[in-house]
Amino acid sequence: MSTAELDASKLKVIRKEEPTVFEQNADFTFGRLFIDHMLVVEWKRESGWQAPEIRPYGNLSLDPSACVFHYGFELFEGMKAYRTEDGRVTLFRPEMNAARMNRSAARIGLPQFDAEQLVELIGKLVELDRQFVPQRPGYSLYIRPVMIGTSASLGVTAPDSALLYVIACPVGPYYKSGFSAVRLLATDNVTRAWPGGFGDKKLGGNYAPCIPSQEEAARLGYHQNLWLFGPEKYITEVGTMNAFFVFKDSTTGKKELVTAPLDGTILEGVTRDSVLTLARERLSPEEWDVSERYYTISEVAERAAKGEVVEAFGCGTAVVVSPIKEIGWNDQAIKIPLLPGEETGEFTKQVAHWISEIQYGKVEYNNWSRTIADLK
Ligand code: COI
Repeated sequence: MSTAELDASKLKVIRKEEPTVFEQNADFTFGRLFIDHMLVVEWKRESGWQAPEIRPYGNLSLDPSACVFHYGFELFEGMKAYRTEDGRVTLFRPEMNAARMNRSAARIGLPQFDAEQLVELIGKLVELDRQFVPQRPGYSLYIRPVMIGTSASLGVTAPDSALLYVIACPVGPYYKSGFSAVRLLATDNVTRAWPGGFGDKKLGGNYAPCIPSQEEAARLGYHQNLWLFGPEKYITEVGTMNAFFVFKDSTTGKKELVTAPLDGTILEGVTRDSVLTLARERLSPEEWDVSERYYTISEVAERAAKGEVVEAFGCGTAVVVSPIKEIGWNDQAIKIPLLPGEETGEFTKQVAHWISEIQYGKVEYNNWSRTIADLK
């Protein structure tokens, strides 16, 4: 018997009886306030993907033996919808998230699906709740697709049933302090990801074990931690973000934008890819190299001492870019320069602007911004 594919045309919509009156000036603390509806799709091994349903936001009912609670059958995504000045609601590169979700699912034995069907369903959810997409610059609707294994059994096997659901929340700037540079504590006593592991996948299991190191950084007065790997102490990621550094060779004057290569230990970030794509296309190759290569905390410390570290930033969907101003390492403070009187470096500011122009529909670029509702 063939099993059913995920099919957006089978969508059933059950609307909330009394829609929320959404205040554009509400408190948008990250991840607290949710839109009226959620998308839910069940999967069963025997029959495949069931009819998708959009229904009022509410609790799930799961058996306490459901495998998600015992063996970590959970993955998620983070993506955003934007309201453009000319009255459209758009999704930013949603096909990248749907494709990554399938790669995460494959890694933990959860079912895969037709990525375009999920993008269409998310578009329908956001269109239904479009009043929740904030209008202010720097604000957006953060969308959280999730998949969990729901088999009611303690047997350690691939799940026989799963649930894909999507919730969303209007958000403002990720850090309460707004767009300001962060101080990081380098962590080398805990390993976030390792070769052959799953650090490149968006599995919940990659996040909880990072919390104690983040708390340690916070206790010592830092905003986040910087993840190092191996005896060489390669720089890998910043908190839950990809990391970028800009070096300037003091002999040649040439600059280099550097991030760690996708070797299975680095999350395949959509913002990371957007930064690299725009940098390769828009920076002059006479003045810049754009590299995906290994680099260590020692290289950063030594080159910072020589004035060769120009700037650094983390990037991810939630924050977009997050400038870095200092790294605590081996009892020393590695200072990263900022533009005079500003909380950012020059390239960080430039690339944040490039990305935001595309996200808010001011500039069309390679169909990265996909219109899902035209409110004109
Ligand atoms: C993102 O940058 O989108 C993240 O991964 C952070 C998220 C887990 C809140």
